[in-house]
Amino acid sequence: MRDGSPANVTRLADYLPPAYLVPRTHLDVDIRDGHTLVTATLTLERNPARDDRPEDLVLDGEHLELLSLSLDGASLPASRYREADGRLTVFAVPECFELTSVVRIEPEKNTALEGLYRSNGMYCTQCEAEGFRRITWFPDRPDVLSRFTTTVRADREHYPLLLSNGNPVASGEEPEGKEEGGRHWVTWEDPFPKPCYLFALVAGDLACLKDTFTTTSGREVALHLYAEHRDLDKLDHAMVSLKKAMAWDERVYGREYDLDIFQIVAVSHFNMGAMENKGLNIFNTACVLAHPATTTDAAFERVESVVAHEYFHNWSGNRVTCRDWFQLSLKEGFTVFRDQEFSSDMNSRAVVRVENVNFLVNHQFPEDQGPLAHPVRPAQYQKIDNFYTLTVYEKGAEVVRMQHELLGARDFRRATDLYFERFDGQAVTCDDFVACMEEVSGRDLSGFKRWYSQAGTPIVSAEDRYVDGLYSLTLSQHTPPTPGQADKQPLMIPVKLALLDPQGKPLALNDQGDTETVVILERATQTFSFPLPVKPTPSLLRGFSAPVILRYDFDETQLQTLLAHDSDGFCRWDAAQRLYFSALARIIEQGESAEQQLERLRPALEGVIRRAAEDPAQAALLLTLPTETAIGDRHSPLDPARVHRAAHAFKVALGRALGEDWRRLAESLREPEYRADGDAMGKRRLRMLALAYLGLAEADGIADYLQRTFRDAACMTEEIGALGILVSNGLDGAETALEQFAERWRDEALVMDQWFAVQAAVPGPATVARAKALMSHPAFEWTLPNRVRALIGTLVNGNPSAFHAEDGSGHRLFAEALKTLDAINPQIAARLGNGAARLDRLREDLSTSLRTALSEVREGASANLAEVLDRILG
Ligand code: ARG
Ligand code: ZN
Repeated sequence: MRDGSPANVTRLADYLPPAYLVPRTHLDVDIRDGHTLVTATLTLERNPARDDRPEDLVLDGEHLELLSLSLDGASLPASRYREADGRLTVFAVPECFELTSVVRIEPEKNTALEGLYRSNGMYCTQCEAEGFRRITWFPDRPDVLSRFTTTVRADREHYPLLLSNGNPVASGEEPEGKEEGGRHWVTWEDPFPKPCYLFALVAGDLACLKDTFTTTSGREVALHLYAEHRDLDKLDHAMVSLKKAMAWDERVYGREYDLDIFQIVAVSHFNMGAMENKGLNIFNTACVLAHPATTTDAAFERVESVVAHEYFHNWSGNRVTCRDWFQLSLKEGFTVFRDQEFSSDMNSRAVVRVENVNFLVNHQFPEDQGPLAHPVRPAQYQKIDNFYTLTVYEKGAEVVRMQHELLGARDFRRATDLYFERFDGQAVTCDDFVACMEEVSGRDLSGFKRWYSQAGTPIVSAEDRYVDGLYSLTLSQHTPPTPGQADKQPLMIPVKLALLDPQGKPLALNDQGDTETVVILERATQTFSFPLPVKPTPSLLRGFSAPVILRYDFDETQLQTLLAHDSDGFCRWDAAQRLYFSALARIIEQGESAEQQLERLRPALEGVIRRAAEDPAQAALLLTLPTETAIGDRHSPLDPARVHRAAHAFKVALGRALGEDWRRLAESLREPEYRADGDAMGKRRLRMLALAYLGLAEADGIADYLQRTFRDAACMTEEIGALGILVSNGLDGAETALEQFAERWRDEALVMDQWFAVQAAVPGPATVARAKALMSHPAFEWTLPNRVRALIGTLVNGNPSAFHAEDGSGHRLFAEALKTLDAINPQIAARLGNGAARLDRLREDLSTSLRTALSEVREGASANLAEVLDRILG
C-alpha cells in the first residue's frame, strides 16, 4: 500500500483477545511459473475468552487475489463477505466451522521480501511480523496459534527441494498424464501449534550439509543446512555453531530440541539477519555462510551468534511466544541475552561483553536519546516493522541481564524453568516473564518494570567523599524526556562496583573481605558508605551492570589506574574510552594539538601494548578509538567535518608516536599459516589494527607492505583489512587493488558487499561522488538489501564526514536512494531512513539541507518510511 496518509496507529491499551481461534490450518501452495495458488483451509472456533460473542470473522490479507471462498464446503456468495483495506470480513459465521479460500499471489513481483518471494531462483518466505497475510487470508496476529499442515507443489526439475515446518509426512508426483508433467509435491506437518509469523516454506534446488545431534534424552535430530550448490563449502561453521548452541541450551537452560529435524536455509535476498521459523530457519546468507577465504573473523563470530540466536528462539519465541507485537522484546530481548551469554561462554567473556556494550552505547543510546526513542515495550506503533529496533533487542537484552544479576544465576534459572513450563504453547507478555522472576525470588519487581515502559537513557551521576576513614558514594539518577514521555520516574538500577587502592588493588568492602558488590539505586539519590583505609579509585558499573550513562569526574590518574589494573574488562575499556574522549574534546573544543594530547596518553597506551600478548583481542579493543559518530555525539552542534579532522589527526599522531610498537606488532603477530581459533583471531585483530595505524601515519614502506599483505593474504580478514587501509588512506596501489579484488570476487556476493562497504567508508566529502558512481556499477542492485546496506548504509551510518558533506551532496544522494528504495522495499527504506535521526543535532546549515532533502521524500512515502520521517522531521 503506497499512500502518505497517516497510517493507523495500533495501541497496546486497545488489546483484545482474538475473536476466533484457528486450531488447524491446512495450506496447499501450488507454485507455478509467474504466480502461485494458495488454498487455505482453516478450522475456526469462536474464542470463549471473548464474551462479547463477535459474529463476524475478520481476516488479514494484502496483495491477494481472492479466487474463491467457501464455508463448510459451500461456496459463499459475495453478499456474505466484504473485502476492503486489507481485511476480509465474513458476516454472521457459526460458532465452529471450516473456511476455505483460494488466492492467487505473485511471488516473482514481490520485492518487499515479505510473504512468499523469489531469491536467486528459489522461493522462500518471511512472515514475521505481518508477512503471512501476503500468502493467504488469516488472523495474522501472534496470539492465534494453529497446527499447520502444508503441501507444497512445484516443478520437480527446478525445485527438487520442497520444505516447510515440522516433519515431512507424504510426497508424490502430480498425477501422470497431465500436460504440465514433471511436477511433484511434499506434505509437511508441524505438530506444534504456532502463530502464522513462524510459518515458512522453501522451494528450490539447493545443496545440503547433513549432520545429527543427539539430545540429552537420547533423541537423534537430523540437522540439514541448505545453500546454493556453490556455497556448500561455506556451511561447516554454521553446523559447528548449531551443535554448540543445542548443547549449550540443554546445559544452561535445560531446553531440548523438540522436532526430529532442524533445517536452515541460506537466502541471498533478506531484509533482516535471520528468522526462527519453527524447524525451518531462514537466514540471510551473510549470517550463515562462512569460509576463511571469503569471510572475515568478525563475520565468523556473527554467524556463530546468529545461528545460536535463531536456534534459542525455539524455546524463547516459539514454544512460548508473544501475545502481541508490543511484547516483541519478550522473545527478542531474552533471546539476545541468551545468545550473548552463549558467545561469552564460547569465546573470551571480557571481549564479548565489551563488544556488546560498545554496540549498545554507540547505537542504542543515540536511538534512545533522539526522535525515534521508544520504550522496550512500546505503547503504540504504525508499522510494527519499524520496531525491530536496537531498543527492543539490545536494551531489551540488558533488561533481562539486570534481572539475571538481581536474582543470581540459580534463581534466574529457576525462574526461566517456571516461565517455560507455565507458558509452554502460549502467547504471553513481558509482565508474565517478570512475574516468574518475582515468584521465584520473592522480590517485588514492580519498580523494576519501568525499564519496559519508560524510554530514554538514564544518567547516573556519582559523587564521592572520603572523610575519617569513611568513603561515601552518592548516586543520583535522572532520565531526560523523550518524545511523548516528558516526566520520568526513578528506575531500579543495579550498580556493581569495586574500590581500588592507589596500586589498583581492590579493597575489602566488608568484614567477609568481599571486593565487589552491587548497590541498588532505586530513588532519585542515595548514598552508600564503606569504611576504607585509603581514598579509593572507584571502579563503577562493572560489567556494565545497567544500561545507563555514568557521570563521574574521574581524574586522569584514576583513569590510568583503571586502565592499567582493573580486573573488570568493561571498566578497563571504559577508562580507555574516557581518556580518548577527553583528549579529542581538547582538540575539538580547545584547538589543542593532537600530538600534545597523544603525549599525555602515551604512557598508558604503551602499558596496554606491553601487556598485549596476554589477550590480543582485548588489547585491540583498548587501542581502538571511538568512531567519529560516537565522538560527534558528544559535541553540540554536530559538526562532522571538524570531528573528522580531530579524530584523523589524533590517529595519525598515534600511528607516528608508537610507530615502532605498531611495526613490531605487525611482524610478531603474523602467523605462518591460517588458523581459525580464537587465539589466532585475536592476533589478526590486533595486527590489522597496528597496520591501520601505520597506514594512517603513512609510515615508510607501508603501502608496499599492505600491497603484499593484500596479495598474499591467508584469509579474508587480512585481504579486506589490507585493502581497506590502502583505500581509506589513498595509498599507492589502492585503486589497482580495488580492481583486482572486484575481478577476483565478482561471483561472490558477500565478498562484493565488502568491496562496496570499504569504498563507502572512506571519510571525507569526495566519497559521495564515489558512492554515486558505485550506484551505477553493474554489481549494484537495489533489490538486494545486503548490497544496499553495504553501500548506502555504510555511507549514512558509518561515515558522517561524507554523509554530511558541506555541499549537501550526501543528503541529496540519501534522499534519492530513499525514494528509489521505498518503491522497491519499504522496510529497507524505513530502516535506512533511521540514519537521519541526528538531524536536529547537526550544525544549522547541515540540518537545513538534510531537512529539505527529506521533506521531499516524505511526499508519497510508504507507510513504513512515512512513520520514520515524521518522527525525525517532527
Ligand atoms: N525474529 C527475527 C530475529 O530473530 C527477526 C525477524 C524480523 N523481521 C522483520 N521483517 N521485521 O531477530
Ligand atoms: Zn530474534
